[in-house]
Amino acid sequence: MFGIKAKKEEIIVETFKIAVIAGDGIGPEVINEGVKVLNKVAELDSGFQFEFTYFPWGCEFYTKHGKMMDDDGIEQLKEFDAIYLGAVGFPGVPDHISLWDLLLRIRKSFDQYVNIRPVTLLKGAHLPLVDAKREDIDMLFIRENSEGEYSGAGDWLFKGQEHEVVLQNSVFSRKGTERIIRYAFEMAKKEGRSLTSISKANALNYSMVFWDQVFEEVSADYPEVDTASYLVDAAAMLMIKDPKRFEVVVTSNLFGDILTDLGAALAGGIGLAAGANINPERKFPSMFEPIHGSAPDIAGQGVANPLASIWSASQMLDFFGYEQYGRTVLEAMEHLLVEGEVLTPDMNGTASTSEVGDRVVHIIDSLIK
Ligand SMILES: NC(=O)c1ccc[n+]([C@@H]2O[C@H](COP(=O)([O-])OP(=O)(O)OC[C@H]3O[C@@H](n4cnc5c(N)ncnc54)[C@H](O)[C@@H]3O)[C@@H](O)[C@H]2O)c1
Repeated sequence: MFGIKAKKEEIIVETFKIAVIAGDGIGPEVINEGVKVLNKVAELDSGFQFEFTYFPWGCEFYTKHGKMMDDDGIEQLKEFDAIYLGAVGFPGVPDHISLWDLLLRIRKSFDQYVNIRPVTLLKGAHLPLVDAKREDIDMLFIRENSEGEYSGAGDWLFKGQEHEVVLQNSVFSRKGTERIIRYAFEMAKKEGRSLTSISKANALNYSMVFWDQVFEEVSADYPEVDTASYLVDAAAMLMIKDPKRFEVVVTSNLFGDILTDLGAALAGGIGLAAGANINPERKFPSMFEPIHGSAPDIAGQGVANPLASIWSASQMLDFFGYEQYGRTVLEAMEHLLVEGEVLTPDMNGTASTSEVGDRVVHIIDSLIK
């Protein structure tokens, strides 16, 4: 159950409490535009509103306080309905610190074990493949987000010595593997689409043999879902050669991380790619973010593309049960791309970040009214 319901002028208004961690570099610039979009949608529907609380965490916070977030940061975030994150990372702070001490800490503490990344080529977005049609690129990646190759388990022995050894262990628990595969089957069933599992059982003779076995077991409960299974190297090639064979896709943390960047390249570039980190049981807040980083090379210039961040706002609307508005936001993005007049430089335009956000808001206004 989300939000606080309160009576306002005889109308029940649901308030969604959103923790905003705008983060570093272009993070705050793109998040501003997503917030504009969410506020516009709420303004057009009298049934709900958003309450945003900003947290100054990230690399700048780290340089002042020696930590990426408050010590009780996780406690503070618990009371929110969702987290809206820009990007973290900046030169001067090692990437493994900015990633592990903020982003991964949130994902792990809140058991956000599902990472949902749409790889859909919107109308008007650049189609990079010569032999494919726009409608061929329409995948939904479900990436395991809590363990696997990113479990953080390992050791660094005899550091700096001639015989030093590093161990980076993958962890595939039955619970963790089964729940992500089951979630993907449920999604495929709901959408009436096929499910493809991507693994690497020929080389990873424990973890991925186990993954394939669990996929087989769970598939027995979903006879109505067509399935396919590929090795990750073959999958990378097929995503380019024959993207239409991928509909809903389930894969491990590392493979999902890499393949969804390939997916981003297929679906209009990094400026359009969004991801949701979901705790399906809704015991903890879920987190919504563009998948790009803080782009220090263009930070502060007001030219970052806010569309990925706006897409993640659309995912947030879906998550709160307002799928019709989630679709409207995507439709507005398609309008913007098709008219091709207000785009940031990465899309060969000359518009600023806020001009793009304003245009999307204007289109939403005309679509909903
Ligand atoms: N989720 C996250 O917070 C996240 C993800 C990836 C990288 N990072 C961090 O971000 C920092 C920079 O990493 P990077 O350079 O490898 O990746 P990046 O995504 O920040 O940038 C890669 C390239 O894409 C461009 N780009 C990215 N987002 C854009 C946007 N919205 N509009 C226009 N151009 C955009 C950048 O200008 C750059 O040329 C590092 O510290 C890294 O650790 C954070």
